[in-house]
Amino acid sequence: MDIKTIIRDIPDFPQAGILFRDITPLLAHPQGLTTIIKGFASGFADAQIDYVVGMESRGFIVGAPMAQHLGCGFIPVRKPNKLPAAVHQVEYALEYGTDKLEMHQDAFPSGSRVLILDDVIATGGTAAAAAKLVSMAGGSLVGFGFIVELDFLAGRKVLPDVPIVSLVNY
Ligand code: PRP
Ligand code: MG
Repeated sequence: MDIKTIIRDIPDFPQAGILFRDITPLLAHPQGLTTIIKGFASGFADAQIDYVVGMESRGFIVGAPMAQHLGCGFIPVRKPNKLPAAVHQVEYALEYGTDKLEMHQDAFPSGSRVLILDDVIATGGTAAAAAKLVSMAGGSLVGFGFIVELDFLAGRKVLPDVPIVSLVNY
């Protein structure tokens, strides 16, 4: 299955001049999630992953089935004030202003091998923030996986030097 042919281009969303790469037709395809998870699994075949981290909200869509596929735990990174126990928090820059992400301090044992998954990497701010949270909790970052990487935004430049698997590049 060719993922790229099923991703839909939506001009001028969320604002004029932006070409939005819409993965919802891929998710809706009966083989869509299977193909995505196979892609990540082959990219990290020997990585000995203990936990998969996914960022709210679209990171949950890929993170949870990957964790199930690997037979390992899933850890949610959430927008502020959603997690009930003690959290680590990272503030990161957006195009205009800042945003925050949080993860439970006791999400995994220190030294755990952690894979971070999200649907898209654009500027890399979200993934870099998730990597900081993993580091604050004492995790050993194994790599990043994205369905879509927007190469022209060079988001990977702000990420730590670990393997990055992107299934589709634009
Ligand atoms: C989108 C996307 C990534 C992030 C990528 O999430 O799902 O998480 O932007 O952009 P970046 O590389 O510039 O940080 P968004 O914050 O729109 O929220 P959502 O997942 O809840 O839709
Ligand atoms: Mg997101």
